[in-house]
Amino acid sequence: MTVVSATAPGKIILFGEHAVVYGQPAIAVPLPDVRARAVIKGIGPSRNLNIIAANLARTLVVYPELDPDNHALVLAVHLLADHLKVTLPPYQVLLHSTIPVASGLGSGAAVTTALLRTLSLAQETQLDNETLNTLVYEVEKRHHGTPSGIDNTVVVYEKPVYFVREESIQTFTSGHPLTLLVADTGLSSPTHHVVSDVRVQYEENPTRLDPIFTQIGVIANNARQAITAGDSVTLGALMNENHTLLCDLTVSCPELDHLVQAATSAGALGAKLSGSGRGGNLIALVTAETAQPVTAALLAAGAKRVLQTTLR
Ligand code: PMV
Repeated sequence: MTVVSATAPGKIILFGEHAVVYGQPAIAVPLPDVRARAVIKGIGPSRNLNIIAANLARTLVVYPELDPDNHALVLAVHLLADHLKVTLPPYQVLLHSTIPVASGLGSGAAVTTALLRTLSLAQETQLDNETLNTLVYEVEKRHHGTPSGIDNTVVVYEKPVYFVREESIQTFTSGHPLTLLVADTGLSSPTHHVVSDVRVQYEENPTRLDPIFTQIGVIANNARQAITAGDSVTLGALMNENHTLLCDLTVSCPELDHLVQAATSAGALGAKLSGSGRGGNLIALVTAETAQPVTAALLAAGAKRVLQTTLR
C-alpha cells in the first residue's frame, strides 16, 4: 500500500486562563510549527493494528485486542472503527510528535487527531472536521478528566478558538500572520492545584476577584477583535495587561515575571504566562525582526526551551 500520513498541530491558551473557569471568554490558538504525525507504514504480519510511538520507543498493540478503557489511543481506534462501521486491517502506524508533552500544549489531542485522520484516509474516507472533533473530544473526555473541549477544537480546526464555558465553541481567523514565542520555564505546577488555589481565594474574597475576572474577559473580547484585524500592537498591549491581572490572581511566579520582563525589554510587543501558571509556559508576541533577539533574551533569562511559531 502507499504510505498514508496526516498531522495535527499543538495549541496554546492566549487569553483568559483562570477567568474562563468563572464564565469569562478564553482564546486559544494553534501552534502550527509543532505537530503530531501519524504514518501508516504498511499492513502487519499479525492480526493486530499496532501503533509504534516513536518518541516513547515502544509499540502498542491496540486493536482489536486491548480494552479501550486502557489507553486513549486504543479508544480512538475503536471509536473510529465503530463510526466507519468497519473492522480495521492490521495497520502498522508510526506516531511521532514534536509537541512537548504534559505542558498544556495540546499534545494528547494532536496525537489522537493525527491518528484518526491517517486511519480514515487509509480507509479512503476523509472525516469532516466536525465529526473528527466529536471523536477526539470523546477520547479527551474518557481519558483526560473533564476537558472543556477547547484543545480538540483548536487542534482539529487549526484555527483560533473563542470559548465561553457551556456555550458553543467558535473558531475565527487571524487577519495577519502573528509570530509567537513559547518559552518553557522548566517548572511544573499541576493545573488542578493552581485552579483550586484560585477557588480558595475566590471563596474568601469574591468582591476582590470578580472584577479581575471581568477585566480579563474584556481583554479576551478585545483580543479577538485585534487578532481578526491583525493588529499586533494592540494585541501585545492586551497580553501585558492580562499578565498583570494574572499576577493579581497570584498565579505568576518570579521565574515567569522575569521572562516577561526579559521578553519586553528585548522588544516583544507583549508577553504573558499561558495556562495555569506558577511555572509552565510564557508566550511572547514578536515580529520577524524581534524574534531572534527576544529568543536569545528568554534563553539568557533562564527559559529551558523556546519554540517559535507563526499563526496564519
Ligand atoms: O495549562 P493548561 O493549558 O491546561 O490550561 C489551564 C487553563 C485554566 O484556565 C487555568 C484551567 C481551565 O480548566 O480552564
